[in-house]
Amino acid sequence: MDLAVIGGTGLYRFPGLADVSEQVLDTPWGKPSDAIVSGRLGSRRVAFIARHGRGHDILPHKVNYRANLHALKQLGAARVIGVNAVGGIRADMGPRVVAIPDQIIDYTHGRSTSYCDADGAEVRHIDFSEPYTSTLRKDLIAAAARAGIAVVDGGCYGATQGPRLETRAEIARMRRDGCDLVGMTGMPEAALARELDLDYACLALVANWAAGCGDEAEISLDEIFANLEQATAKVPPIIAEMLRQS
Ligand code: HPA
Repeated sequence: MDLAVIGGTGLYRFPGLADVSEQVLDTPWGKPSDAIVSGRLGSRRVAFIARHGRGHDILPHKVNYRANLHALKQLGAARVIGVNAVGGIRADMGPRVVAIPDQIIDYTHGRSTSYCDADGAEVRHIDFSEPYTSTLRKDLIAAAARAGIAVVDGGCYGATQGPRLETRAEIARMRRDGCDLVGMTGMPEAALARELDLDYACLALVANWAAGCGDEAEISLDEIFANLEQATAKVPPIIAEMLRQS
């Protein structure tokens, strides 16, 4: 398997895959969100899973992140791209922007955050100073440039619990903390990938201005989905270009 893609809100299938097959896997951590769809993009093998299920019926705090990543590893994936819808906080992170963050602050709670918490499991403290794999980030950024698609290189992803959106005060605090983007699914996915020794990077698709960052008094779901559709269209060409050269 050359690459695995975890699709977020708005990305429920990976377009352009040939020789497609589906596997319904079970893992020691339970069932993944959906079947894993594998296929070829050119000569490269790609596996895809919809993080919320293909019918989008699993909320961010209910996703079995451990099972999803474990299943991808079972299929032989060594590199994983997480595609995540986010709200933009920093001025250059407006709707429809694609960003490749380089840092994370985790505000989630009550999620299963480690593979080390089974009885008798080895105790491991992974290094997470750089939460995303720098070579994979660089490959994505270079591929986007070759594909002529603008991306923002870097930024801090603030992971919130959801499923509700944030208050203006929460976003103001996150901005003071140094967050540039806010989303509900970036963690514990990134940390679990590191525990499994998978290369992992995030393609963050800005769906809306985070609370209090734009002109509107309220965030509209219609706006979120319209922006996401446009941002999501940029994902397959970036990944296809990346696979052509790395
Ligand atoms: N907040 C959290 N998660 C999100 C948002 C947001 O504003 N937009 C899309 N996912």
